[in-house]
Formats: sequence, C-alpha cells, structure tokens
Amino acid sequence: MSTHPLRIAPSLLSADFARLGEEVSAVIAAGADLIHFDVMDNHYVPNLTVGPMVCQAIQPYCKTADGRPVPIDVHLMVQPVDALIPMFAEAGAGLVTFHPEASLHVDRTLQLIQSLGMKAGLALNPATPLHVIDHVMERLDLVLLMSVNPGFGGQAFIESTLPKIELLRRRIAASGRDIWLEVDGGVNARNIRRVVSAGADTLVAGSAVFSGGDYRRSIAALRDEAAG
Ligand code: DX5
Ligand code: ZN
Repeated sequence: MSTHPLRIAPSLLSADFARLGEEVSAVIAAGADLIHFDVMDNHYVPNLTVGPMVCQAIQPYCKTADGRPVPIDVHLMVQPVDALIPMFAEAGAGLVTFHPEASLHVDRTLQLIQSLGMKAGLALNPATPLHVIDHVMERLDLVLLMSVNPGFGGQAFIESTLPKIELLRRRIAASGRDIWLEVDGGVNARNIRRVVSAGADTLVAGSAVFSGGDYRRSIAALRDEAAG
C-alpha cells in the first residue's frame, strides 16, 4: 500500500463540454484534488479535444469555495509537444505531462515545462517500457502510467499495468525523490484498491466520476474503496 496521500483527478473528457465551468466547480466541491485536462490532436491519438483556450476558460473555476487553487493537470496527447507548452503555462496549467515518443528532445521539453513554473511529467502508454525514464529521473515531478491506450474515455483497465505500477513505485522509492505516480484509464471503485496497493498515489477517473451523476458520492466511493 502506498503511504502517499491519495489524489483524485477527475478527467474532464467525460464531463458535459457544454457546461465545463460548472462541471469543474461541481467536481471540486465534490472533493477533486486536481482537474485532469486531456489534450488530443487527432495525430498522436485518433481523437480531437481541447487546447489552451479552453484551459484558460476553465481556470477561474479551478479553486475551492475558500479560494484554494486546484491545479490543472494537463495531459498532452499531441505531437509535436513544445510549441504548446508556453501556451498552457499562460492558460494556467499547474502540471504538464507528455508522451516521450512525441518529443524529439525529452529532457529539453521537461526543462521547458519547469522553466515556466509548472510541474513536469512523462506519460507512458501501456506498451511503453519504464526505461524511458532512466536518464531523466532527476527532472521528473510525476510519471503518468496509462492503463488504457490513449484516445478515449470509458475504456477497460488493462490489468498488465498493475505489475508496472509496482515496478515504478520501487524505482521512485529508490530515487529518494517525491515523484507522483499517476494512473490514468479505466480506474473505478472496483479496481482502485489494487491500483493504490500497487503504488499509485494520483488517480485519474473520468467515467467513474462523471457517469454516476452524484460526483461527491462517486469520489467518496473511490476514496473509501482505495482505503479498503
Ligand atoms: C484517455 C485519457 C484519460 C481518460 C480517462 O486517453 O487520457 O484521461 O479520460 O477516462 P476513464 O477514467 O473513463 O478511463
Ligand atoms: Zn488523461
């Protein structure tokens, strides 16, 4: 079991796009720790979503009732990556993850994100080996492990991700650094216990939060099941 605090990051991909501001406020009132913002370009992944303008539009809603900011967790599924990073910094992103295959110079891209005051991470597809983080561990604030193939919400969790989470948790522990381990795709109240036991501390949940209707209840169910 991870001893790290559990962070729940609802993915707006499953929200009502016609009412995004209200949806953000509602999941924050329901206990969201981060707002997960999926950026797809119909090139790196076969789907097309939103960009910096929409990030900027939701930014005023990303705070709790008592005014505490709730970070926007931007997951870039785009290729190339770098040109969008200053735009997301300007639009209020708090964290940016990208897929290493999509950047020619992974170390440079990580530096670019951090130089603009954001946390930086790599996003690894189910078939991407863990060793892509080998020579950039020192720079990472987080690693996002995909537990579905990127592109769509509502897919089934790929079970072979579990041993990969365990391996990554061991590597993070060995590094001695406070690197967040985020798992993204198919996480729900039925599998979150195993995902957290394997070592995840940050859980993206799209359909598990938004499809139920009662967001507070859905997020509470995730936390309860994670705690066991
Ligand atoms: C998929 C996205 C995920 C997705 C998660 O490419 O990166 O963030 O929205 O949605 P669920 O939780 O429904 O799998
Ligand atoms: Zn995502």
